[in-house]
Amino acid sequence: MNSPASLLDTAALKKKLNGRKFGSKIYSFETIDSTNNCARALAGCWAEEGTLVLAERQTAGRGRLGRTWLANPYENLTFSIILRPTLPPEALNLLPLYAAVAVAEAIEHESGLSVECKWPNDLLIGGKKTAGILLEGSLKEEGLDYVVLGIGVNVNQTTFPEDISPRATSLKVQGGRDIDRIRLLREILRTLEIHYAAIMKKGFHNLLPLWLSRTTMINKEISVTQDGAVISGIVRGLSPEGALILDAGGTEKTLFAGDVTILGS
Ligand code: BTN
Repeated sequence: MNSPASLLDTAALKKKLNGRKFGSKIYSFETIDSTNNCARALAGCWAEEGTLVLAERQTAGRGRLGRTWLANPYENLTFSIILRPTLPPEALNLLPLYAAVAVAEAIEHESGLSVECKWPNDLLIGGKKTAGILLEGSLKEEGLDYVVLGIGVNVNQTTFPEDISPRATSLKVQGGRDIDRIRLLREILRTLEIHYAAIMKKGFHNLLPLWLSRTTMINKEISVTQDGAVISGIVRGLSPEGALILDAGGTEKTLFAGDVTILGS
């Protein structure tokens, strides 16, 4: 078991990865601006697929839509993985769903808690956010050059800043016990690698039902803020491209991005 104030033991992690591709190269930092920034710089210098960047403390950790990602050091997981998928740029809408399913499965495996997916990039437990995914891609002429998959999981943190506290939670808050971060990280890398191999081989059609089986958004009323505009409607499903399909007062809308609030929750 990790003591709450110890650095992640990356040597132990490496041993447990048994030669897998995800985590084959690990860059571990006590403090960094953002693991996504570092992973992007490495990817631009030809770092190989599966390279993992992790940090205890991020001074400029970021979330989607320009938000800040705050996480106490020694208590959480904040890391990024470099992917080099042979996929068209449109896959950038689907990859967060893949990551959400993989991370949800790993969290459930290690904590026994049941994890819900909230479109597009959030994982919830008990209706509150436990993990977030930030995908940043770089294009080349023929398609995607690389993708950095940034993942933050609230693991053993038990108090949150006042402004996010009503919406944030952690595995420890939900399950009442410490979670071993190395075991959880190893399991996340394993599930990410397995689902990645499957989507590279067969595409996303087996993945979307897995995501749908983990969401409670279907048939719920939501509002989505997109570039300052608000669209409300009932969620009807996902398009094959990973967009959210809304019934907005009888008109079907297909949304590729936005900030979602589930109304009445
Ligand atoms: C979100 O919920 O908006 C996405 C949060 C993603 C946070 C992670 S922590 C590791 C990686 N580095 C960052 O700066 N952000 C991601």
